[in-house]
Amino acid sequence: MPKRFLITAALPYANGPLHLGHLAGAYLPADNYVRYLRLHGHEVAFVCGSDEHGAAITLKARKEGASPQAIVDTYHQINGQAFRDFGISFDIFHRTTDPLHVQTASDFFLELHKKGVFQLQESQQFYDESAGIFLADRYIKGTCPVCGHTEAYGDQCEKCGSSLNPNDLKDPVSVLSGATPVKKATKHWFLPMEAYQDWIRAWIETGSYDGMEPPVQAHDPAAWKSHVKGQCLSWLNEGLRPRAMTRDLDWGVPVPLPDAEGKVLYVWLDAPIGYISATKAWAETQGKDWKDFWCSSDSTLVHFIGKDNIVFHCIIFPMLLRAHGGFVLPENVPANEFLNLEGAKISTSRNHAVWLHEYLEEFPQKRDELRYVLTSIAPETGDSEFTWADFQTRVNSELVGILGNLVHRVLVLHHKYFEGITDRPLSCGHTPTKQAVEAMYDDLQQHMEAHKQRQALQAVMQLARHGNRYLTEMEPWKLWKTDPVATREVLEDMLYLLAHLSCGLQVFLPDTASKLQAMLGLAGPIPWDRELVWEKGHALQTPEILFQKIEDEAMEAQRAKLTSRTTAHAPNSKNMESKPKVEIQEAKSEIQFPDFAAMDIRVATILEAEKVPKADKLLKLLVDTGLDKRVVVSGIAEHFQAEDLPGQRVCVLVNLAPRKLRGIESQGMILMAETPEGKLRFVAPDGEVENGSVVA
Ligand code: 2FM
Ligand code: ZN
Repeated sequence: MPKRFLITAALPYANGPLHLGHLAGAYLPADNYVRYLRLHGHEVAFVCGSDEHGAAITLKARKEGASPQAIVDTYHQINGQAFRDFGISFDIFHRTTDPLHVQTASDFFLELHKKGVFQLQESQQFYDESAGIFLADRYIKGTCPVCGHTEAYGDQCEKCGSSLNPNDLKDPVSVLSGATPVKKATKHWFLPMEAYQDWIRAWIETGSYDGMEPPVQAHDPAAWKSHVKGQCLSWLNEGLRPRAMTRDLDWGVPVPLPDAEGKVLYVWLDAPIGYISATKAWAETQGKDWKDFWCSSDSTLVHFIGKDNIVFHCIIFPMLLRAHGGFVLPENVPANEFLNLEGAKISTSRNHAVWLHEYLEEFPQKRDELRYVLTSIAPETGDSEFTWADFQTRVNSELVGILGNLVHRVLVLHHKYFEGITDRPLSCGHTPTKQAVEAMYDDLQQHMEAHKQRQALQAVMQLARHGNRYLTEMEPWKLWKTDPVATREVLEDMLYLLAHLSCGLQVFLPDTASKLQAMLGLAGPIPWDRELVWEKGHALQTPEILFQKIEDEAMEAQRAKLTSRTTAHAPNSKNMESKPKVEIQEAKSEIQFPDFAAMDIRVATILEAEKVPKADKLLKLLVDTGLDKRVVVSGIAEHFQAEDLPGQRVCVLVNLAPRKLRGIESQGMILMAETPEGKLRFVAPDGEVENGSVVA
């Protein structure tokens, strides 16, 4: 049954360009999810926009000697363009300086004020006497009480990610003058968060609360990621405090009350209302009613954000929506954790980042390569890391070696033997292929709905692997000499597989999916109904190469660029100093060839992985060695999440005498390489090689 979805992606601040961390954190998972929903025929509003208010913007403007408006105009344009160029399929990319937004935010605040939600309080705020202004949280720096970082901001520590209050900082200084700020009285409208903590806790823990009324619907609390719930509960356990919903600042939505000169709405009240105004602006152009998305029980709201935004989307904004009344609450907030880059945290100030617009310029026509890698390593349940070496390996061995290779082999052979004209309607005679296609749809669906996109993408790649295995087994290039009829059957079964593969690919790799569909002579996009058809005599189009290998030089150039920029910006960068020296183990003593030949090492695939109870280091793995499916217990649990491993290619020493670890018989050993930092990496073939292939 088609449903209605409202999907939001965090409004990026319009004070700088977008980097890969932004994409992996919020925008790519949101876009994949939206593509998946649209294929199912659901009605979707996918909204985003620039977050153009707040001290992050005015600070940047001061640094650049420009007006805040000039800054946001520049970055709204750059970021909107980068999203479009990358193929993020927002229905609208709005902005919070738009008059419609200013009106919407102002009305929302007034309604809360009328309902008596706010408490007007005089409080002591930091004030810079030399600059003569109250200091917004971002204008105060000091030592983080959590990790000791000396450059933490008053609202957040960028080193450990903790959300802070300026009062939490040790040794606070004004960013404007470097002076120690003083406290001065000022009045603000506060949200008494403590008054709402009981229902918010019930809502997060159980999915509903006493007095819940339509349009709010209960959600399944088990569907929320544990780190999201964990962060919310830790806030709640600490006890919520009143939070000012206004600020002394000359940039923002003016507080729409008399006696509020020089005051604007708090940016974390203003920005999420940006989702509402964006929906309004889009609905107007579509002849739709925005309220169907925000105020109706049959609308499902999902917020895609990074983990530093959790409290605002899971605690503060829901409080505001409920206090206002008439709005839905999010069904889920599948926040991602952080993506690190080449061994360090991504940092805008140190220029340690890969900027999206630069990637798009330097790797033209390679959007799907980046989408593929970022989804494969998405920081879904823990921080993850992007390296250029890993990017190259994944592109070369998975996209070129598995996906591109399969498509190319099937289409080239069909053209060669049968001129690309099919002999039968699109159908499949080979049961295992049919089952593999069914399994892809089922697994893809299950993982997408559980917000496990890494696994969902693997479900698609599994189908490609299945196709390659089948081709290798059937050897149509040999079969042709003796049995052209059987050869045609094999290849046309593979066409069936490719058609369905293209359907799964539409979720993650839109360019690839449409190229493949064009080669197959199918009109895309193909909805998720599995009823793909063509008639006998259907003409396939000329095959083209889907992916090119990424050369070492291109990766070297990227690494060099990153190092030169980072060094230029951070002469005393902590993470460069602390990188341990490379310690290469000494060479072992000489052995004879028979010693080596005695080892039976095979290429294999991990099928299942689970933690061994009460053993911090051990994972129990089920591996397909090509010879059999067997259990291997491996001491890698501190390096990998079990759920990330199914699908991982490995090399296994299969004739090692079995031994019992924690009562489980381990039948073999997985080969691993250790980085100088002590991280483990799998040793795996760099292209498509069948399970069971001998490593020698
Ligand atoms: O962290 C950020 O980049 C914020 N600009 C996100 C805002 S999300 C929403 F509330 F609009
Ligand atoms: Zn910190």
